[in-house]
Amino acid sequence: MKLIHTIDDLRDQLRGQNRVAMVPTMGKLHAGHLALMNMARQHGDPVVASIFVNRLQFGPGEDFERYPRSLEADCQKLEAQRAVYVVFAPDDKEMYPEPQNYRVQPPADLADILEGEFRPGFFVGVCTVVLKLFSCVQPRVAVFGKKDYQQLMIVRAMCRQFQLPVEILAHETVRDEDGLALSSRNVYLSPEERAEAPQLYATLRQVQDSLRGGQHDTARLEREAIERLAGRGWQVDYVSVRRQRDLRTADPDQVRGGEPLVVLAAAKLGTTRLIDNLEL
Ligand code: PAF
Repeated sequence: MKLIHTIDDLRDQLRGQNRVAMVPTMGKLHAGHLALMNMARQHGDPVVASIFVNRLQFGPGEDFERYPRSLEADCQKLEAQRAVYVVFAPDDKEMYPEPQNYRVQPPADLADILEGEFRPGFFVGVCTVVLKLFSCVQPRVAVFGKKDYQQLMIVRAMCRQFQLPVEILAHETVRDEDGLALSSRNVYLSPEERAEAPQLYATLRQVQDSLRGGQHDTARLEREAIERLAGRGWQVDYVSVRRQRDLRTADPDQVRGGEPLVVLAAAKLGTTRLIDNLEL
């Protein structure tokens, strides 16, 4: 496995490769990331993982400074798993040698809702860095996790519109045994918060059960879910039932007619903000 810090070295290393599979990450790797790498391995060769905490996608007052960074431990995990051939870990200066004035602005109807409403500018930061990473690595496929459902959709749409020759593959959310979706931010949770955290997924499961049981009033289901979490001490940003195809709300006829839906949620436990979703 090769650890590479500069774009020039990366390009030298990958020259002539046309089946590169990539997994973009911000590090603090866990079993969810490793599952993405394994999926990448099945769809291309060599596999390149990027590890870069992207300042552009953090808003003022968010956790950019304290975001967990653990490059050495990450590399050990990747090495032990023989998961990737190249780790591309640029620093801030390498990725942003000058102010990043050219940015990718995803459309408001997809990017200013849900996560975008509560984290303005987040998807501009994500799309901009993903485009830059793709330009450096030139992968044929790239793997993203479904935990970041909206991110996955937006990146996919960006590739389609810019006609980037990258196929975006989606991996199911990897969970702990108690249902908590694996996330690098889970390290922020205190033991008490960690014990409570699976309730986010449990709440999404309740929405799923109610819909399956024939309750089609999604606004009511969302309200009940928010009340349930708030009653347990969560600060809820949203619980929202949306159409899988475009993340818009479904009208009652569509809900009754079996439109594929997804319920998405974001909520804070103490100072830690968690997101999760469940396809219905
Ligand atoms: O999902 C993430 O870890 C990040 O948003 C990504 C895609 C690596 C871009 O910084």
